[in-house]
Amino acid sequence: METLRWENGTLHLLDQTLLPHEVSYLALNDYREVIRAIRRLSVRGAPAIGAAAAYAVVLAAMEAAQGDAEDFAARLQKAAEEIGAARPTAVNLRWAVARQHAVVERLAGEPPEKVVAELVREAAAIFAADVAANRTMGAYGAALLPREARVLTHCNAGALATCGYGTALGVIRAAHAAGKIRMVYADETRPLLQGARLTVFELQQDGIPVTLITDSMAGYLMAKKGLDAVIVGADRIAANGDVANKIGTYSLAVLARHHGVPFYVTAPFSTIDPEAPDGAGIPIEERDADEVTHLGGVPVAPAGTAVWNPAFDVTPHNLVTAIITERGVYYPPYRFGA
Ligand code: MRU
Repeated sequence: METLRWENGTLHLLDQTLLPHEVSYLALNDYREVIRAIRRLSVRGAPAIGAAAAYAVVLAAMEAAQGDAEDFAARLQKAAEEIGAARPTAVNLRWAVARQHAVVERLAGEPPEKVVAELVREAAAIFAADVAANRTMGAYGAALLPREARVLTHCNAGALATCGYGTALGVIRAAHAAGKIRMVYADETRPLLQGARLTVFELQQDGIPVTLITDSMAGYLMAKKGLDAVIVGADRIAANGDVANKIGTYSLAVLARHHGVPFYVTAPFSTIDPEAPDGAGIPIEERDADEVTHLGGVPVAPAGTAVWNPAFDVTPHNLVTAIITERGVYYPPYRFGA
């Protein structure tokens, strides 16, 4: 199943808000629609957001090319800034927009049609490199797991969160292909249930054994059943190895440390932010209260309940056993180099 597909000037996005009940694609021709789709989580997961943003820049360039050639670059720049601000935490979004910006700069003064064609090529390159990185990380990560591994993952860091194969689920896919997976435990991932809706769906489709737990069961799972690894993705990794990922990741890392379970983060280099020296500098998105007060549109708390709804948290680097990237596996002290 494709998370996103570019075809003849249209971005087709799998609407993940409808999964697992309905497999339906949005056909988007306006960069503003892509921004809306990113905000409402029709497309989500750091690398997938990055690729969608790269194609949003293409749509913006196609629109800008309709107007005055002199204003082309300025109009495109304004749209790119809007796209880069669609969601704040996953740095892949800003990274992909910056890559497209570099294309526009390199082709300054060239006809808009040529710029558009190069932006399409760059977006396709971002897409292809993401899939390749995931496969490489899958192989590196699978090698770290023992046979008969019982692993826990949080949120969805799978094919649905990337351009294909997945980061954390890429490791699990590769380990499963090597006959190493006994069981994957999937945290449901409150409040928006990416674990229950997306990770379980994805693993079931691939015939990988998966057991759903609520987030609050993770500690008892480690104590009672035993666990060989926690494997998660990341939305942004600071230069010192602090990791921003879906809310609840930090609690898992604390639990893992207490129970002596390795805690692995899997992410491509596009998720590492050299400009954030540590996790304190990572902007954490706060989302609407009704995501917490309601479940599937049904209220589960009294009207007017005060809510705090950070979508991500930061796991300090000292709780991270290793960070698996396409350039290799990094261990503390984390130094990612150039
Ligand atoms: O709010 P979401 O669903 O976009 O959050 C996604 C996550 O936190 C993922 O773990 C992260 O983006 C890594 S995806 C390979």
